[in-house]
Amino acid sequence: MRDIRRDEILGNGEIGLTSRHNNQSHNMQEKIIILDFGSQTTQLIGRRVRELNMYCEIIPYNKFPEDDPSVIGVILSGSPFSVYDERAFKIELDKIRGKYPVLGICYGAQFMAYVNGGSVEPAESREYGRAHLSWIETGNPLFKDIEVGSQVWMSHGDTITSIPDNFEVIASTDSVKIAAYQAKGEKLWGVQFHPEVYHSTDGTQLLKNFVVDICGGKQDWTAQSFIETTVARLREQLGDDKVVLGLSGGVDSSVAAALLNKAIGSNLTCIFVDHGMLRKNEFENVLNDYKCMGLNVVGVDASAKFFGELAGVSEPERKRKIIGKGFIDVFDVEAHKIKDVKWLAQGTIYPDCIESLSITGTTIKSHHNVGGLPEKMNLKLCEPLRLLFKDEVRRVGRQLGMPEHLIGRHPFPGPGLAVRILGDITPEKVRVLQDADDIFITSLRKAGLYDKIWQAGVILLPVRSVGVMGDERTYEQAVALRAVTSTDGMTADWYPLPYDFMAKVSNDIINKVRGVNRVCYDISSKPPATIEWE
Ligand code: XMP
Repeated sequence: MRDIRRDEILGNGEIGLTSRHNNQSHNMQEKIIILDFGSQTTQLIGRRVRELNMYCEIIPYNKFPEDDPSVIGVILSGSPFSVYDERAFKIELDKIRGKYPVLGICYGAQFMAYVNGGSVEPAESREYGRAHLSWIETGNPLFKDIEVGSQVWMSHGDTITSIPDNFEVIASTDSVKIAAYQAKGEKLWGVQFHPEVYHSTDGTQLLKNFVVDICGGKQDWTAQSFIETTVARLREQLGDDKVVLGLSGGVDSSVAAALLNKAIGSNLTCIFVDHGMLRKNEFENVLNDYKCMGLNVVGVDASAKFFGELAGVSEPERKRKIIGKGFIDVFDVEAHKIKDVKWLAQGTIYPDCIESLSITGTTIKSHHNVGGLPEKMNLKLCEPLRLLFKDEVRRVGRQLGMPEHLIGRHPFPGPGLAVRILGDITPEKVRVLQDADDIFITSLRKAGLYDKIWQAGVILLPVRSVGVMGDERTYEQAVALRAVTSTDGMTADWYPLPYDFMAKVSNDIINKVRGVNRVCYDISSKPPATIEWE
């Protein structure tokens, strides 16, 4: 993966086309700006605000769009830093104070108190976990419909110990006196707890009070309005340009293609590369779906090339890099067959960007769909879904009338079964895994479990064990089944599959898939495990 800077990833927040290439006018979709000071939960704030049908953009703390008339309010996120830390992210508060309603969350609240003369000190013990509001100022609009006793989620090392003279405390817990404050007579609030976290039971209500009642948000951001705005913007920005898009068979690239197809029709060419590590029969089935959707799509079987390059390679990141590069090479050749192509479209969604980073800039795992291609091909980048979460992408797809089996598909990693074959890859191992995976997935569908699960698959383990089949001893491979629930892939829980279902799948796999004599079930959650094994 190329080295992506955090502010580049977060971009200027424009839906549609990245800021590097285009600075054309915004339309007037009103928005809340969330200034990101690097907290792990910043994107959750975004999710919660979007769930209120309010459009919002998450922007690096130092990139506030001062001349954007569509901003109706600002939220300052938490941060891994203390306000005293020399690396702490700071802003000139005067640029927003008095101009927009402002809500500071955790560090955001500490920062605003601190720069106005309040004090912030290390908490005696780190305050982490559930707490309950023991007092709320009656009538404060931020706490409308929230009652004393409401559970809030605390997660901070520092605490606000005194507020500036012209601020007033508006809520407390038993151990945190200044759980929330307001600047007197101003539309400026700070909360020490995290309303965006699920465990803050009235957190969504608090955010609603802020964005709807205080900021005056109209809650008019829906899948339909997203489609209309995005299609109009794509038409304006792409004009008659030719665009090429890599389809993966997954929901994201398919929805991106449908959206672009609506905007520019046959000026979009989609390329679907078979790297040989797709699911059983997937290439043919999905290609057919795409054609039925009216997409201009080219299918390329490049499996021999990928198997050749991957032979003998077992290091996970190396495998990903080979597939990423191979994909780029194949794609490049195909794209050059299209005359005058100017743009590369990708189905990158928000968690793809975030997952590839941490605040320290360390790569967690290189997702091959977020880098490499545009530089190599000298194309401008178009990512119409880059600010959407998975569930929002699905809503957009449904609204576009895409077939439900395509929309409801589980996510599938770009490098495909390669990251589910531990160790080196051979066509035979892929065959074994495809057969086992097909039995598992088909069984999930038949049992009505598929839609209850975020993602499921089988992993081929580099383990052989002794078994007995008929009168013979066997020494064959083990597979692990993985099925998880999640809302966005950032965290996940293993799914409690019924025992009789597991028993049947295990029997079917061992009886029908040549080469497998043992089936295990992966009961790890993310974190600390990841969804994929590599
Ligand atoms: P992990 O394994 O990191 O996965 O918990 C989170 C989600 O991302 C998918 N995934 C990938 N998607 N390229 C992709 O396009 C990749 O290299 C990749 N690795 C993981 C994974 O399937 C899950 O949905």
